[in-house]
Amino acid sequence: MVSGRFFKRTVRDVHWEGRTALVRVDFNVPLRGPRVMDDTRILAALPTIRYLMAGGARVVLTSHLGRPGGKRTMSMSLRPLVPVLEKALGLPVAFATDAVGPRAKRVVDELRAGDVALVENTRFYPEEERNDTTFARALAGLADTFVEDAFGAVHRAHASTVGVTAHLPSVAGLLLEREVLALERLLEPEAPFVAIVGGAKISDKLSVMEQLLGRVQRLLVGGGMANTLLAALGYDMGRSLVEAEQIPAAERLIAEAKRRGVELQLPIDLVVANFFLEQADHRVVQVEQVPPNWLALDIGPLTVERFAQALADARTVFWNGPLGVAEWPNFAEGTAGVARAVAASPGFTVVGGGDSIAALRRLDLASQIQHLSTGGGASLEFLEGRPLPGIACLEDR
Ligand code: 3PG
Repeated sequence: MVSGRFFKRTVRDVHWEGRTALVRVDFNVPLRGPRVMDDTRILAALPTIRYLMAGGARVVLTSHLGRPGGKRTMSMSLRPLVPVLEKALGLPVAFATDAVGPRAKRVVDELRAGDVALVENTRFYPEEERNDTTFARALAGLADTFVEDAFGAVHRAHASTVGVTAHLPSVAGLLLEREVLALERLLEPEAPFVAIVGGAKISDKLSVMEQLLGRVQRLLVGGGMANTLLAALGYDMGRSLVEAEQIPAAERLIAEAKRRGVELQLPIDLVVANFFLEQADHRVVQVEQVPPNWLALDIGPLTVERFAQALADARTVFWNGPLGVAEWPNFAEGTAGVARAVAASPGFTVVGGGDSIAALRRLDLASQIQHLSTGGGASLEFLEGRPLPGIACLEDR
């Protein structure tokens, strides 16, 4: 489904026998205690890992998890991922309790061809996010070739995504290649192109929506961020999350959609609640009837129906972000309805962001989507046309 020409050297351009690959993966997965709550990103890295193993490389996986702020924080250790990887690969995976240094080196030295090791969270070291040269050199010292496969982290110029490439020959992994080829199709999309953007805050997604206006025929907006657009149109949103300082930007977006002839669809009904609580009292109201002191926590059924109609003849679809508080069943129906409509679309469908993908998986619809992007921020920055430092630093083809 995903085809095209990728402009960087990849793992396919290297003869792996006798080599040691340092593979930057994005294993930033949600954990509850030691349990991995969503293994999408781990599974997405398997094609590259298997390719390197089959080629006879020794494989060293490196990643960040969470935002420990440069401190060793055991709740953000990568160790709980080891059994998940072992089960997926069907072989033991060694774990190094440090990301660099003698302990990591010892684990790597014991690997044989086709073996896999995972080293500890790079963000336990303040040098990682500073893109510190000494730390990057220490990481590079674990291997002789670098593979960038952490699409979700290529918008970060850190030691493990950028710094390390100054010290090793550096190529792209299969996931990174697949992500870029899929997202490039959204830059020159087949029309009608329909984008659905959700999530809590409009400030996170204004610039991607501005960019999308140049390419889409319809832009559907829901979730907390739609409240700010509705407030800009003069609706009283009660106690809903509204970013008051973003109202001028929201007004500009509405005007720009009009100028370009893009159909901007906002919620026409909402599920409102009296408190921001999972078990709060809730009911469906028209958008002009939000009671004072209540808050919008989901789009309503009429909105879902309209969004589904807008998707029915789409040739290209991009969806990022939940349409309500999707982790609470009382406010998950909007996201579920949109997930069903996107899955039913006959067009080329791309979905990004953990919550949207989780909704598809809950409904067993993930396999109906042509491309599930493992990048949240990275896929948005790609679509904004911003340069991604973790890709730019790889060797050109
Ligand atoms: C993500 O989850 O989007 C990536 O892993 C990047 O994480 P970060 O926003 O903490 O850099």
